[in-house]
Amino acid sequence: MEQKRYGHFDDQHREYVITDPQTPWPWINYLGNEDFFSLISNTAGGYSFYKDAKFRRITRYRYNNVPMDNGGRYFYIVDESNLNSQTSNLKPTIWNPGWKPCKTPLDFYECRHGMSYTRITGRKNGVEASVLFFVPLKKWCEVQKLTLKNESSEVKQLKLFSFEEWCLWNAATDMENFQRNFSTGEVEIEGSTIYHKTEYRERRNHYAFYHVNAPIQGYDTDRESFVGLYNEFADPQAVVEGKPRNSHAHGWSPIASHYIEVTLQPGESKDFVFLLGYIENEQDEKFEAPQVINKKKAHALIAELDTTEKVDKAFAELCEYWDALLNIYKVRTGNDKLDRMVNIWNQYQCMVTFNFSRSASFFESGVGRGMGFRDSNQDLVGFVHQIPPRARQRIIDIASTQFPDGGCYHQYQPLTKRGNNDIGGGFNDDPCWLIFGTVAYIKETGDFSILDEMVPFDNQPGSEVTLFEHLKISMDHVINNLGPHMLPLIGRADWNDCLNLNCFSWDPNESFQTTENVSEGTKAESLMIAGLFVVTGKDYVQLCKQLANRPLTSHPSPLTSSFFAEEANRMQQAVDAMIDAVKKHGWDGEWYLRAYDFYGRKIGSNECDEAKIFIESQGWCTMAEIGAEEGLVAKSLDSCKKYLECEHGMVLNNPAFSKYIYEYGEISSYPEGYKENAGIFCHNNPWVIIGECIAGRGNDAWSHYAKILPSYVEEKYQTLHKVEPYVNCQMVAGKDAFKPGEGKNSWLTGTAAWMWYTVSEFILGIKPDYDGIRIDPCLPETASDYTVNRKFREAEYDITIHPNGQQKGVKSITLDGNPIDGTVIPYSPGKHTVEVTM
Ligand code: GLC
Ligand code: GLC
Repeated sequence: MEQKRYGHFDDQHREYVITDPQTPWPWINYLGNEDFFSLISNTAGGYSFYKDAKFRRITRYRYNNVPMDNGGRYFYIVDESNLNSQTSNLKPTIWNPGWKPCKTPLDFYECRHGMSYTRITGRKNGVEASVLFFVPLKKWCEVQKLTLKNESSEVKQLKLFSFEEWCLWNAATDMENFQRNFSTGEVEIEGSTIYHKTEYRERRNHYAFYHVNAPIQGYDTDRESFVGLYNEFADPQAVVEGKPRNSHAHGWSPIASHYIEVTLQPGESKDFVFLLGYIENEQDEKFEAPQVINKKKAHALIAELDTTEKVDKAFAELCEYWDALLNIYKVRTGNDKLDRMVNIWNQYQCMVTFNFSRSASFFESGVGRGMGFRDSNQDLVGFVHQIPPRARQRIIDIASTQFPDGGCYHQYQPLTKRGNNDIGGGFNDDPCWLIFGTVAYIKETGDFSILDEMVPFDNQPGSEVTLFEHLKISMDHVINNLGPHMLPLIGRADWNDCLNLNCFSWDPNESFQTTENVSEGTKAESLMIAGLFVVTGKDYVQLCKQLANRPLTSHPSPLTSSFFAEEANRMQQAVDAMIDAVKKHGWDGEWYLRAYDFYGRKIGSNECDEAKIFIESQGWCTMAEIGAEEGLVAKSLDSCKKYLECEHGMVLNNPAFSKYIYEYGEISSYPEGYKENAGIFCHNNPWVIIGECIAGRGNDAWSHYAKILPSYVEEKYQTLHKVEPYVNCQMVAGKDAFKPGEGKNSWLTGTAAWMWYTVSEFILGIKPDYDGIRIDPCLPETASDYTVNRKFREAEYDITIHPNGQQKGVKSITLDGNPIDGTVIPYSPGKHTVEVTM
């Protein structure tokens, strides 16, 4: 096994430290927490956008480029101190702190990815250049604080060039509509600030700027003038010649580059604050003179960050913000690999997936998908404890894209919050996830008032009903769409976007996900939705029982206690009926079936030639405990170990499909071992792990968990794994793949939230509940005592757990020294100490 390492964790600073710029793939980080965002790689590649990576792209980025990850915010340092006409060395040393794009070998390189910031440091010939990149809280800009330090004993005369390339706002048309794009570009230059104002004259009321807090001796705003048509980012002509062109872009490709001459005495260091900002103006305040943009807001923003002190303060605030967020759930187990994932990286990735859903990463181009209905509800569960009000708003936004029959848009755009017509709806698992997300929110906050919020259908004003009504029709959507076995009809697909049982496509130009060549008369049913329905149905019943004691008061007709009591009853019956249907028609002998196809034939059965067993239905039906008494749960979990598990995790199905099956769709289009065709789709491993926890099998739960836990992978095989070792990726190539263990599609994956939900609630066993915190760990026998410090609403609990070699089962709990009945610590504000004996 390859053992090369490219970096290591620094837990004290909550950083991952990359020590070799030539990582097996760009290892990235995210900057920004709310409106202004950037992606940044370990060599400073990437881009920025405001709210929406498709509609408000600020800087340009070329995906799948050659070389990979070319383009970003680059600083070029031209050091002429080694020029010597006697030795005929006439070429200055030109280098970048992040090694790329010049790739001049550095004397030292380090990239520290931290919580919403990245610090890249390079050293060459006695000069150190260190750049701190971050987006200050509540500000629409990326700060790049560059510190140049002369560590040599000679005076250094340096030439510094900055570089950013503007995107013409809409990232999709920016890459295709060149007959227009090459004529629209417009900029303004004022002092040390370069403004990008393409299309500002007409329907846009926003512009961007790139500023530095020092006088400049030149600039460039036209790409070809700066780079040269036959040069590259690695050797821009202006840089190579050490001479800016002072170009003014008119059309073509506008960029922003500052030129600064820097003299550094031995030991001297200087800071430069570069700011990449975004501004919106009111329609009637767009211009300060004909054709001249109103720069008032830009000036104000610059003034807030124009000194090292102001920037350092903004950075300290960002760090405090993360301190507070990561102080909400803190574990101490003594196992660094577990603690760092729980306390730092898993929670961090949850924030990132909450912010971006599946829109912008180095695998998601930012133009394809907005916020997914099911994805965002799941992401929320990993984030709700961090900033509940944002989760609340998200639930309302998501529910606003639902249709009156309970179906929903599969995706929406973050900028407009409107449902996405290109993809539409018809994914029959979608509605259930709204319950999953909402219940998590209420349990965390105790805020039942969210159910009283008036929420429209398909964003149509006038169509509002309460959020509770949205939950009700979500459940009903499943009940109203049952197939011949009384199991849920699958629609276009369930959670597995690639199991397309009504698609029937022989046409490569058709999308698997939006094509339903035949759906009339379909019998295609999903056992995954069946399990999901039982789990969320039980949640719904429990919620109604809560509401029976605190009826909803407001709009438009108040719902009474007796309504909720009846509703709980009604849904319990539907859940029981579903459980019966699964036991009757969904059990294959050793595991749960996956589905019935269009014709009513079994999918995921021992009778099938390939793909005899699938993970999704094992996960959901074991979480739902369907047939636990009859031993079905234990058998299903054993089958996961026997048929799905491998060195790197559990594969999605086994054996892999070796040919395209017209009746199944996209799943069988992938090569063996990749993606939904028997890849280790990390997202669904936690479902089985939770199933294990509910069944009390702590050793098995832990062994599955550790296999896909990044910190374990980090230690074992960085080269093979390829993608960032500090976060989960969506897919690791499965046992049937050409290269088992190779990871792909890092960062934006439901895995983050599910790993968090699994470890925080089911393994470590700290579960928010309506009336307090339920304690129910499920651990490997080897677990030693551990503590969890949990802030919960207005309370803080210091919880110590003594496992005593038990995998499951709490024997006794004391709260502030007094024994309590049961396993729920009743909520009360203030600080509390809890001791748990298993
Ligand atoms: C992707 C999608 C998610 C889907 C999964 C399985 O991660 O974002 O919605 O459930 O693939 O197909
Ligand atoms: C593809 C992928 C799947 C993803 C979907 C999103 O089908 O295989 O993982 O969810 O695209 O559109």
